Amino acid sequence: MGISNLKSLPLILISILMIVSAWSSPSTAASTNSSSSSHDRSFQQCFSSGFQHSYNSTSGSLIFSKNNSAYASLLKSSVRNLRFFNSSEPQFIISPFHESHVQAAVICSKKHGMQVRVRSGGHDYEGLSYVSDVVPFIIIDLFNLRSISIDVENESAWVESGATLGELYYKIAEKSNAYGFPAGSCPTVGVGGHLSGGGFGTLFRKYGLAADNVMDAKIVDADGKLLDRKSMGEDLFWAIRGGGGSSFGVILAWKIRLVSVPPGVTIFNVQKTLEQGATEHLHKWQAIASKLHEDLFLHAVVGVANEPSNGGSKTIQISFVSLFLGPAERLLLLMKVSFPELALERNNCIEMSWIQSVLYFAGFPIRSPLQVLLDRSPQSKSFSKAKSDYVKESISKAGLEGLWQRLMEEQTSLLILTPYGGKMSDISDSETPFPHRSGNLYKIQYSVTWDSDNETQQHIGWMRSLYAHMEPYVSKSPRAAYLNYRDLDLGQNDNNNASYAQASTWGLKYFKNNFKRLVRVKTVVDPSNFFRNEQSIPVFPSPQ
Ligand code: FDA
Repeated sequence: MGISNLKSLPLILISILMIVSAWSSPSTAASTNSSSSSHDRSFQQCFSSGFQHSYNSTSGSLIFSKNNSAYASLLKSSVRNLRFFNSSEPQFIISPFHESHVQAAVICSKKHGMQVRVRSGGHDYEGLSYVSDVVPFIIIDLFNLRSISIDVENESAWVESGATLGELYYKIAEKSNAYGFPAGSCPTVGVGGHLSGGGFGTLFRKYGLAADNVMDAKIVDADGKLLDRKSMGEDLFWAIRGGGGSSFGVILAWKIRLVSVPPGVTIFNVQKTLEQGATEHLHKWQAIASKLHEDLFLHAVVGVANEPSNGGSKTIQISFVSLFLGPAERLLLLMKVSFPELALERNNCIEMSWIQSVLYFAGFPIRSPLQVLLDRSPQSKSFSKAKSDYVKESISKAGLEGLWQRLMEEQTSLLILTPYGGKMSDISDSETPFPHRSGNLYKIQYSVTWDSDNETQQHIGWMRSLYAHMEPYVSKSPRAAYLNYRDLDLGQNDNNNASYAQASTWGLKYFKNNFKRLVRVKTVVDPSNFFRNEQSIPVFPSPQ
């Protein structure tokens, strides 16, 4: 039984468990031995005596030190990017079962000078949830805090941060097929990082970002206090919906608004190579994709392929992949008006339920059992580097051809072009810290993957030169970027501490004019800059 379920146990039984837990150390995995430093032992003692809630050791271990045999596998369990597979090691990994365990971890880390990294799904592109150059540090890994309760009657749900998107979609589908949630496509992404950084998916042109659909949240702040929306206040509640959670505290849970989905949706995937007019099609796509009906999401995935009709020589292949919230007949009419050049036909379209479209965009066959969404282990692991850009004016055909030349230098390069418009244009730039709203045609995610550490510098170098090449074609002053596609090339805080001016280099790109308000909120809620990392929001210096 998970400790979260203890809430439902009779009080008497909870009291007995509390007494038992007070007698036995909860740190079953982090047994003290001679190699532990006295500093580590003090931390452990502080932690063990620091929480009031009972701990039932049959649920699993609560704190792992380097001496524990499960430490290494736990550390690597949700590492998605192999670039960080063998990075720095935390003194402890704490895997809380109850909110008071998080409070104790924060209070004792502060007291004993430990840095804290918070991990939900571990998908951070730069590994910031589990890598730290500043030592000593601990990881608070929230994978045990992942309960989800769906309230169909009130069209809402409470979801703990350690849940994955796949677990959330599964739980919604278990209760009703009339509702969904507008978040990302990858089922192993964690709710904690995703919602606090924005979170977009196939429903975002109709309903906005995941962060736009948050109604309440629970957070442990830098003083170890547990706060909800009312007690944290609207400024902090604003900041954690797109400003990144890791600068402000440990977000334990989110109350989210469920959104309506129709009984049937339609998907298609039409592919074009250069030889089949991919450039002309993409040029047209740029003009129409952000203006399409909000029920129609049509993104373009650009990769390198071999063209059979041309002796297997390298070419660019663009997949135009769509989710339409309605039947195929209506989709065909819309496409005929807006994008007749794609020549979409009925047999390109597959009708299905919304949850099957979730399977489809996650890369599973649509008839897979829904339980595949519960598998928390990443579908694939590789070395990777990604970057993002926003496009406000169509790129010329000559510009696209130049881009194709660059991409063909890297067999595993991939671009995902995500159209904006719809609901995203109706929300003001300052509603949440996520500022990329009206005026954007689409976002580009650039990515490259590789298999061996020896090649890392070569591929990262290539990615940087591609990014430099794209400068004339994308947003300017600032050249905007998406926080959830974290990119440390945009700038880093020195020693995890930065002046406002230093942090502006990356802060204005992610947050534009909202950066200053984020700094103001940070200065109020965490003046000692306890929650900090390479790209955390800085504090204003105190007046002399
Ligand atoms: P992780 O645990 O690594 O955390 C990311 C950051 O948030 C870290 O700084 C961490 O400290 C902080 N954090 C995490 N939990 C916290 C908590 N509870 N309290 C405070 N801070 C916390 N994005 C998107 O919008 N749409 C998409 O479709 C996809 N798809 C996608 C696929 C794949 C394969 C990857 C690797 C990534 C994506 N993303 C995405 C990007 C994703 O949204 C982004 O990496 C999220 O931050 C990941 O959240 P995790 O909780 O998994 O990451």
